[in-house]
Amino acid sequence: MRFLSLAAVGVWLLACGSSRQAEPAAASPTSAPPTADAYLKTASGPAFDRARLLGRGVNLGNALDAPNEGDWGIVLRDEDFKLVADAGFEHVRIPVRWSTHAASVAPFSIDPTFAARVKWAVDAALAAGLRVVVNVHHYEEMNVDPDANQARLLGIWKQIAETYQGYPDTLYFELLNEPHDKLTPEKNNAIISELLAVIRPMNPERSVVVGGTEWNSLRGLSSLDLPASDQHLIVTIHYYDPFDFTHQGAEWANKTDQLGVDWPGPVGTRQNIAADFNRSVEWAQAHARPLYLGEFGAYEKAEFGARTRWTTAVAAESSARGIPYAYWELRSSFGLYDSEKREWRRELLDAVLPREGAQATSSSSDVRFAVRSARR
Ligand code: BGC
Repeated sequence: MRFLSLAAVGVWLLACGSSRQAEPAAASPTSAPPTADAYLKTASGPAFDRARLLGRGVNLGNALDAPNEGDWGIVLRDEDFKLVADAGFEHVRIPVRWSTHAASVAPFSIDPTFAARVKWAVDAALAAGLRVVVNVHHYEEMNVDPDANQARLLGIWKQIAETYQGYPDTLYFELLNEPHDKLTPEKNNAIISELLAVIRPMNPERSVVVGGTEWNSLRGLSSLDLPASDQHLIVTIHYYDPFDFTHQGAEWANKTDQLGVDWPGPVGTRQNIAADFNRSVEWAQAHARPLYLGEFGAYEKAEFGARTRWTTAVAAESSARGIPYAYWELRSSFGLYDSEKREWRRELLDAVLPREGAQATSSSSDVRFAVRSARR
């Protein structure tokens, strides 16, 4: 469950407070220490620069992350990459379920046809001028029995690292989507280090996106412990709060009988979002790491106007703090694009990619990510 209880927030705040004292903030180009709000806009270093270059993106979800591509109604097409680039996005996140296409015994060989299909998607996105985050998604067995699956995850990443070792720095790796359950903070921290030991010999300076437990939620940050020697890490967070709003009617979240939840409303307001993002940036500053909002979105069973308001607010609060983001997702049940009508859901797209001059952001000093002039 991604639901953020008040008790969890309290524990999280306490934890963040103590870890803030434990680690010094990173050097900043300004003489005075930056406020938390400005930190991600000004902090220097390769990971910060590459994080900022992600800008605004969209997840190509429910395609290669289904058990088999097409099982969930989405098959990626050549035209998707141009569509996304022409709309003005700077990157795509491509969720990939490698685990249903890899052998169960060492060396855990990935089915070559599937590997080629992922490579096609990565190449097509890069050729469209997009940055690409490719991940390991829905490796559910890792959350059930991490000890039994760790060697297989390492084997899968060894093959991915080999395949893409010569690729430009516009390709980013993301180690493992939304660790939870038996994948405890201790195990997650250890696995991150072991995966980096496999990846780094072949991809020494590639940006690698890592995340905390509890489904990459903000509260998972407090127990994330990253190797200080690796300065090419970007820390991902996923934001679906209030969960009762974003996942109303969602079958996989046991919320089929909960509909009609409005936003803003009793479940939450924009101030709650701002406060959550402030705490995230405080964590980033305390640990001298850049952030990436790799997923946020509201399911299609929420009222469209409320989805648009919530999405506008999350994108704006993220952008205001210099956090690059990727909406969940392009063409399925959270979708920005209506495949049947072959058109963008314009208000939702405008929420994720505010037009120049739109009042989507909360401060006049907001980061303006580079906007492609080809925006249609
Ligand atoms: C999952 C999707 C899900 C989304 C929203 C993602 O991380 O991979 O299957 O639709 O979160 O719940």
